[in-house]
Amino acid sequence: MTPIRSVRPVRLPGPRCLLRELDEADVAPMYALMTEPRVFDRVLDEQPPSLDEVRDAVSVWRAEADGEPRPVYRLAAVAGDRLVGMGTLTVESPQHRRGEIGYVVHADHWGRGLGTEIAGLLLRLAFEQVGLHRVEATTRPDHVASYRVLEKIGMRREGISRDHLLVRGQWWDSVRYAILATDR
Ligand SMILES: CC(C)(COP(=O)(O)OP(=O)(O)OC[C@H]1O[C@@H](n2cnc3c(N)ncnc32)[C@H](O)[C@@H]1OP(=O)(O)O)[C@@H](O)C(=O)NCCC(=O)NCCS
Repeated sequence: MTPIRSVRPVRLPGPRCLLRELDEADVAPMYALMTEPRVFDRVLDEQPPSLDEVRDAVSVWRAEADGEPRPVYRLAAVAGDRLVGMGTLTVESPQHRRGEIGYVVHADHWGRGLGTEIAGLLLRLAFEQVGLHRVEATTRPDHVASYRVLEKIGMRREGISRDHLLVRGQWWDSVRYAILATDR
């Protein structure tokens, strides 16, 4: 079997947005995205990052793109010249061809199909370009918008992991979804 591929640079256009590699100019809009209170409420960090922390993170994320095999694809979702969200594909196991996706849309743009589009583009990257076999995702059982995104892109619910994450002093259950290349 051929090994998985390291794709770079990524450039995946969709009808509403383009997924592309991060650049230095993304730091300020990424800070706005990561500190938006409605978005922060759903992410796992202990506290909203400072601008310097986001700058450092973007530089680490950009360096990760050079790993071989590439371990993670952290991508900006842009509409025109505006950063509207972010999508991440992590290659959890090259040997087992298994990855995981994550996605964030700035709250000003929720409910317009962007989350579904970003997640769908990540699956295209995973299956058609990287060559993964299985892609997983987790979300909270009460996070309707997020699990609808996963269901709309064809992922199947596989179960619930109780007290899976400890976030800001609270245990969060996770509902686990997955899709196989052969499901598509
Ligand atoms: C989850 C998230 C990405 C959804 O993005 P979005 O662009 O609003 O999603 P879409 O417009 O593609 O909508 C997807 C589905 O969710 C539904 N939805 C959107 N917002 C909703 C809300 N507040 N409550 C309930 N359903 C909602 C939509 O109606 C649609 O389902 P439908 O087709 O059955 O009607 C966005 O809410 C977000 O970034 N949240 C914060 C970060 C986060 O939670 N990321 C996921 C971590 S697991």
